[in-house]
Amino acid sequence: MFKPPTIEDVAKSAGVSKSTVSRVLNSSAKISEQTIKRVLEAVQELNYEPNNIARSLSKKKTHTIGVVVEDILNTFFTEVVGGIETTLKKAGYSMFLTNTAYDYEDEIKLTRMLMRNKVDGVLITPVKSDSEALSLLKERKVPFFVINCRCDHQDIDWIVSDNIQGGYIATKYLIELGHRKLMHLRGVNIQSTNDRLEGFRKAVLESGLKLSDMQVIGNAKFIQDGYDVMKKYIKKQSAGSFPTAIFAVNDVVAIGAIAALNEHGIGVPEDVSIIGYDDISIASLVRVPLTTVLQTKFKMGEIAAAQLIDKIERKEKRITRQFLIRPELVIRKSCKRLS
Ligand code: RIB
Repeated sequence: MFKPPTIEDVAKSAGVSKSTVSRVLNSSAKISEQTIKRVLEAVQELNYEPNNIARSLSKKKTHTIGVVVEDILNTFFTEVVGGIETTLKKAGYSMFLTNTAYDYEDEIKLTRMLMRNKVDGVLITPVKSDSEALSLLKERKVPFFVINCRCDHQDIDWIVSDNIQGGYIATKYLIELGHRKLMHLRGVNIQSTNDRLEGFRKAVLESGLKLSDMQVIGNAKFIQDGYDVMKKYIKKQSAGSFPTAIFAVNDVVAIGAIAALNEHGIGVPEDVSIIGYDDISIASLVRVPLTTVLQTKFKMGEIAAAQLIDKIERKEKRITRQFLIRPELVIRKSCKRLS
């Protein structure tokens, strides 16, 4: 009869003690790379499955991390989650992934649900920097790390790319190409997207242009919103008032907007230039490769997950970690110079 391999079998095969195997699997102490390699090879060879329930009971841990994202359909978030998952897996944690679709009430409900499920920590992209979800986590002393949002509280850990700077470089690029009739296809009313709008305004004013001459439309969350908002706009506009360049709040909204423009015979970039935000993986693969602003999504996920694990496993008090990442312009084919 098949007898599942035990921790003793792994220890014997790797030539180490049982406690060393357990320390490697729990990533709980400094162990030489060579030992880690030997143990992991033995684990793989024997197909050893550590008993997570027993492990959790003895340490009152579930080795599960709750992840709350704003929009699972936007691959910005799935690329962040890719970085999270890779890091968690290496450290012996699994992930409980949830999606709020930018709904604040859902964000709180899902956070409560994760806490009921006794996750060891939470990674969250909140829709509000002072979200009640964060207060709940703090109150219950559940370690957490915020992604894609700056929180003003000194003691909250976060990682976000500088969205004001991102909005600024995107708009500045369009102005440098000679565009004067600009539009911002804005996102929902949350910090990251409001910051992009602020960057847009800053670049306009700095270039001596008038904000009142610029158009800001939409409240676009999803790819379909990019399409719908643009379609509605096209139908209402007279030819003369059309912008020559559009800065879209993110790549999915830009892609939706391009579909609407093309449907009405408006070419990108021949008739209108468009720049997105995020540099999601599909941005370089669409028919007209999208010029955009890069956020290092996978890396952001990796950093956030590694920091959260450090927070969970470190015994002594650690200092608050806040990371502001520099966005970068990625020039492709969707914007043209005005002659
Ligand atoms: O916070 C939401 C925004 O951040 C989305 O627009 C997404 O594209 C990400 O960049």
